[in-house]
Amino acid sequence: MALTRIVEILKSGQPGQLLEVAGWVRTRRDSKQGFSFIELNDGSCMANLQIVVGVEVPGAAENIKHVTTGASVRIAGELKESPGKGQRVELAAQSLAIVGTADAEAYPLQKKRHSFEFLREIAHLRPRTNTFGAIARVRNEVCASIHRFFQSRGFIYVQTPIITTSDCEGAGAMFQVTTLDLAKLPTPSAAAPGGPREIDYANDFFGKRASLTVSGQLEAEIFATSLGCCYTFGPTFRAENSNTTRHLAEFWMIEPEMPFYELDDNMQLAEDFIRTLVRDVLEHCSEDVAFFNERIEPTVLSNLQNITQSEFVRLPYTEAIDILTKSGQTFEFPVAWGRDLQSEHERYLTEQHFKRPVILFDYPRTIKPFYMRCNDDGKTVRAMDVLVPRVGEIIGGSQREERLDMLVERLKECHLDPKDYWWYLDLRRYGTVPHSGFGLGLERVMLLITGMANIRDVIPFPRTPKNAEF
Ligand code: 4AD
Ligand code: MG
Repeated sequence: MALTRIVEILKSGQPGQLLEVAGWVRTRRDSKQGFSFIELNDGSCMANLQIVVGVEVPGAAENIKHVTTGASVRIAGELKESPGKGQRVELAAQSLAIVGTADAEAYPLQKKRHSFEFLREIAHLRPRTNTFGAIARVRNEVCASIHRFFQSRGFIYVQTPIITTSDCEGAGAMFQVTTLDLAKLPTPSAAAPGGPREIDYANDFFGKRASLTVSGQLEAEIFATSLGCCYTFGPTFRAENSNTTRHLAEFWMIEPEMPFYELDDNMQLAEDFIRTLVRDVLEHCSEDVAFFNERIEPTVLSNLQNITQSEFVRLPYTEAIDILTKSGQTFEFPVAWGRDLQSEHERYLTEQHFKRPVILFDYPRTIKPFYMRCNDDGKTVRAMDVLVPRVGEIIGGSQREERLDMLVERLKECHLDPKDYWWYLDLRRYGTVPHSGFGLGLERVMLLITGMANIRDVIPFPRTPKNAEF
């Protein structure tokens, strides 16, 4: 018999149906009359299926003691209307097979609440908990919704490289990729005794210094200026040593890139995008979102509903600085024109001042990367950040500098060698067009949707400084 998923049974199973289920035991309770009640979960939904095992089930008498929390079982039986509270139907077992036992004493997931810190240490078992099961299902829905959003608009999905020899964000926070033997590097050069070792990357695997990508944007621009609107969706790596609840060393980023889009078009797409993701999750994962609202963060649902209903504020950076300086708040980090905003400032704007998402744009050129289009004021660039309550920045993007001379000037200003960007400059030499794009951090949007407080808990296997187990 083919297995039936518990989500289907709870939704549409009818009394009288004969079916077989398989999964992991959450709990077992034995009645005085010799019945046992098993709560079985197969990951297809948050709720468990209640299974009643009577004494007449072949082998039950000796097998039931192996039905312990964490054990895996296959059970066939007949669906019955449930006389008990809490479920519409239950399964009356006719056969019971223990697939894999789990030592009840040793099994780390006991029937009590575990801290998220503890669960991070057992990331191989945490998907079996209600919270992490819900996160995995919601993450899956978000990913499906992302592809639907772009595919329905005719965007082309492009796979950009993970290993790269160019630095997109210019922040210098890249992981190096090398096959050089670190134990046998050339000795320090005579010119600088004891100084930095001169490494000849011509001998390295790629013949020059290579890294893990911090963004697929530069390559996405190649496709956008050939095929039209496109998007990337892949892993991204940043070696910044920031141990915060918002940063990962490895995260997933979605980067659409659109020719003939100016900043206003870019902002509109970003707003429609976020709203669609939120709507899809509310529609398709309502049970999981209700759980997050009840057990994780009581503002999640109202925040998400607010996002689907209200327009995002669009505010120039300069006006944001004004609002922040006049706010009367004491911030840990000072506010001044020319400084980047910290998450406390972003949260003040979205949570206290406007009480909805805010798109900040036209940032000072000195704090933004070389590829953003310069404004005529000479001081700002066509950057945009989408900020949301509780999380702060979830999207960073811009209109791109499409003018060759300006781009070369900006590269030099950022201490980058135009020669290293020859192919990127070619896009401006041959049929340049205004174009724009942005990057959404998948885990940041997961923080928004689930209400989880720590980004390490919304990715299956977090990579952070000093942490890459599993
Ligand atoms: O603002 P960022 O650095 O922008 C870019 O990388 C552009 N190249 C995107 C583009 O225009 N195509 O990063 C974009 C988003 C941030 O808004 C944030 O959501 C996420 O990526 N992000 C991180 N998420 C988790 N951990 C980190 N260390 C992150 N750094 C950025
Ligand atoms: Mg950013």
